[in-house]
Amino acid sequence: MSIHSEIKKVTTETFRKMKVSGEKISILTAYDYSMARLADEGGVDAILVGDSAANTMAGYETTLPITLDQMIYHAQSVYRGIQRAMLIVDLPFGTYQSDPIQAYRSAVRVMKETGASAVKVEGGLEIKDSVKAIINAGIPVMGHLGLTPQSINKFGSFKLRAKEEAEAEKLISDAGLLEELGCFSIVLEKIPETLGEQVSRELSIPTIGIGAGNQTDGQVLVIHDLLGLNKDFKPKFARKYLNLHEQIVSAVSQYVADVKSQDFPNKEESF
Ligand code: KIV
Repeated sequence: MSIHSEIKKVTTETFRKMKVSGEKISILTAYDYSMARLADEGGVDAILVGDSAANTMAGYETTLPITLDQMIYHAQSVYRGIQRAMLIVDLPFGTYQSDPIQAYRSAVRVMKETGASAVKVEGGLEIKDSVKAIINAGIPVMGHLGLTPQSINKFGSFKLRAKEEAEAEKLISDAGLLEELGCFSIVLEKIPETLGEQVSRELSIPTIGIGAGNQTDGQVLVIHDLLGLNKDFKPKFARKYLNLHEQIVSAVSQYVADVKSQDFPNKEESF
């Protein structure tokens, strides 16, 4: 990061001001340099190096297998593609939940080795001490409540969360706790729209929804979903802005045909 950079970087303070002014915050995931450049040029306010990299980049069914080293590798690549957006990095499963010292060390590694401005963690009361330890080190933390994919084995499915009153009450209380601990923002994933609206109204820090309706203070999407890169994954909450799966497969098969027919390379493409 150059201290002489002309472009004004998005910070946690920008997030705070956007909540106050009512300007919605736009976030996309990215896991590599090229995608990060495109997302940044498109004007997203923040780029999340999500542990969804385990699914989109490595083909795992859950986010559980990805390691801290692998997250750091993705985040380093993304950092090099960003000029304006804030860089937020997920702490992966097993690197922060039950041990505040481990949480602090994991977050410090991310900050030192990647150039990120913040980390994201999943959970509420259960991870209170870890969140505190990270924030005490001066590292901004984004919370994540509702459908928290690192707990998929506890939930048993990717269905809507906090439909029942008891779970909704716990989510409201966890959101209040995360704000009290000093989190700068909270992701709310796959919860009823009315609950997303209530939590967003009650908190003074911005909420970022994914499948939580349009009354949250911002939205986040996995870039592969927005671009239509995976034809078999169509979550209801993800709007597909492109059908890149079809376009890429069609471009590749055209290339294969051109190679076989010796149409490629032609005279202009040769020396
Ligand atoms: O890992 C991820 O991509 C996420 C977003 C879906 C919020 O946590």
